Amino acid sequence: RIAYVNGRYRELRNASVNVQDRGYQFADGVYEVCEVRGGRLVDYPRHMARLQRSLRELRISEPMPLPALAIVMHEVVWRNRVTYGLVYLQVTRGVARRDHAFPPHPVKPSVVVTARALNYEKNQQTAANGIKVVTVPENRWPRVDIKSVSLLPNVLAKQEAREKGAYEAWYVGSDGFVTEGASSNAWIVTTDGRVVTRSVDHGILAGITRAVLMEVMDALQIRLEERPFTPAEAYEAAEAFVTSASQIVMPVVAIDGRTVGNGQPGGIARRLREEFHRFSA
Ligand code: PDD
Repeated sequence: RIAYVNGRYRELRNASVNVQDRGYQFADGVYEVCEVRGGRLVDYPRHMARLQRSLRELRISEPMPLPALAIVMHEVVWRNRVTYGLVYLQVTRGVARRDHAFPPHPVKPSVVVTARALNYEKNQQTAANGIKVVTVPENRWPRVDIKSVSLLPNVLAKQEAREKGAYEAWYVGSDGFVTEGASSNAWIVTTDGRVVTRSVDHGILAGITRAVLMEVMDALQIRLEERPFTPAEAYEAAEAFVTSASQIVMPVVAIDGRTVGNGQPGGIARRLREEFHRFSA
């Protein structure tokens, strides 16, 4: 497998960054994960727009013009022969002597791009079975709209989910409402067929899959309500699902050990999963 690191394509097992990289020492960086389908990067322009925004919010300079970055990402996908899978892009503030404040002199941001194939059949099987979710208290900083590599709370939440036999964790804020998943956006479907998800603010990541899915729902005339929901409402919902670049639409069949709907993936979630790629770019 091949990775791109700061201007070079290298064997992944030998690919490395400087130990003084601020990404390594402070998690001072941002990332994007893009789905690869048929060798193409799904919704690439939106991922790049979000990357630009994350960089701007953290005052990290753009490591290279975006068209050049596009070439690198496609090259990594191609060199790894990925037709279905994910491409990962990470940009960190760069290498400097350890000091919390920004380096006094501008340094070149570090760029890493990797790609890997996913098992399509296995993912389809997971979606056919549905996944389990557990709720955990929201303990992240108030700017999770920035797609930062600082993911320790997400790591711990995901691990807690795994240890409880679930696949994803849903954060619940001190106001009692679900914010989002540890690596996905959270959705429910009411018993009268309205799809509910929290509106975008600094408390959730503005998922690209989420945005595209809203266009899909519009085209299919599925009713959408952008509002927060509680775990109690989710337990009683007809359906639940999560969205992310790696899962697209993944049905949820249990939350905190309570069965959602009839315990099978819901019809709306399944339909949205099937239709998604007719609308993505
Ligand atoms: N996760 N919320 C969080 C906290 C996420 O980490 C992600 C994506 C999403 C969904 O965003 P999108 O639809 O743009 O993928 C929401 C990626 C896939 C990851 O960390 O691997």
